[in-house]
Amino acid sequence: MNSEPTTEEHLRQLRELVERRLQQCVQGREWPERLAEAVNYSLLAGGKRLRPLLVLLSAEVCGGSIEDALPAACAIEMIHTYSLIHDDLPAMDDDDLRRGRPTCHKVYGEALAILAGDALLTLSFETLAASGNSAQTIAAQVLALATAAGGGGMVGGQILDLDAEKIIEKPEKATGGSAENSEEANVVPVEAEMDSESARNCSSTPPVLSVEHLNCIHRMKTGALIRAALEIGAVSAGADVNKVHSLRTYGQCIGLAFQIADDLLDVTGDSSRLGKTAGRDEDLGKFTYPALLGQEASRNRAQALVDEACVSLQQFSAPGRHLQQLAKFIVERDH
Ligand code: IPE
Ligand code: IPE
Ligand code: MG
Ligand code: MG
Ligand code: MG
Repeated sequence: MNSEPTTEEHLRQLRELVERRLQQCVQGREWPERLAEAVNYSLLAGGKRLRPLLVLLSAEVCGGSIEDALPAACAIEMIHTYSLIHDDLPAMDDDDLRRGRPTCHKVYGEALAILAGDALLTLSFETLAASGNSAQTIAAQVLALATAAGGGGMVGGQILDLDAEKIIEKPEKATGGSAENSEEANVVPVEAEMDSESARNCSSTPPVLSVEHLNCIHRMKTGALIRAALEIGAVSAGADVNKVHSLRTYGQCIGLAFQIADDLLDVTGDSSRLGKTAGRDEDLGKFTYPALLGQEASRNRAQALVDEACVSLQQFSAPGRHLQQLAKFIVERDH
């Protein structure tokens, strides 16, 4: 009889560990009460906890311990939650609903929401630094996380996302090449795409209506942090370069697939299930996969990326099965 837990059961157990550790990270702090309240409100509001799960699964497939990886798992969720609080602000996506509740600024006001985000960002690095792992491990994790979260990663991608608003309605649309051609031109293995290259191209040119530009935005604003989750998990396990390379490729593929799925859910999803207001991307004129390529091509691209992600896990054989399942969940999810 097979006593191995199903992926669902395994993820449920890991999620519980993350929830408990996140609570421990924020409780008993001598912070101004309102700040602590706003931070707890957003951080402990559920969410899929995808990034922490990726950290833990990555550590696990590399033979590391869950306990050693838990601080990094919490650290990345703090950064992710801060990015959501700021993403929802009136100056950005101006959203009222997040994780099934009113957004942080709706409840606590804009100033406190901005500061709650700031507090989470700094708490993330404090959590890593206080993890008790070796100085070398911590330094490598800090480097990976800071690089992914900063101007060349999430923050940079958020700016490009805002800059590209309404681009889809601009007259250049006619000269931007047909969606089909753009998509075909873009079907290259993820591994062949250089992140830093694409980031440079993307930052140095004005927004253009191309799949390359959209990939660049998505890789930076969302993909970078997801890939970093795999990296910091592998680092906590002391993984060798081959394993790190495979997990980076996996992270790169699912990072883009995740944002394509998010774009699709904004069109096809249900607000109560999503815990956020569907249809906002169209209202804001966001430059998204379905807006550029349509739903079917977007779904195909996301599926191809998941397939590629699964191939990159081959060296892990059986222990990689949970990561494979998680990759599939990313495109099949309804929230
Ligand atoms: C939403 O992320 C923002 C994106 C990067 C698309 P999630 O869909 O992971 O949000 P939570 O953490 O489950 O709330
Ligand atoms: C947000 O992308 C990416 C972040 C860095 C937070 P979206 O703006 O599409 O995320 P949602 O749809 O509001 O969750
Ligand atoms: Mg946004
Ligand atoms: Mg948003
Ligand atoms: Mg979205």
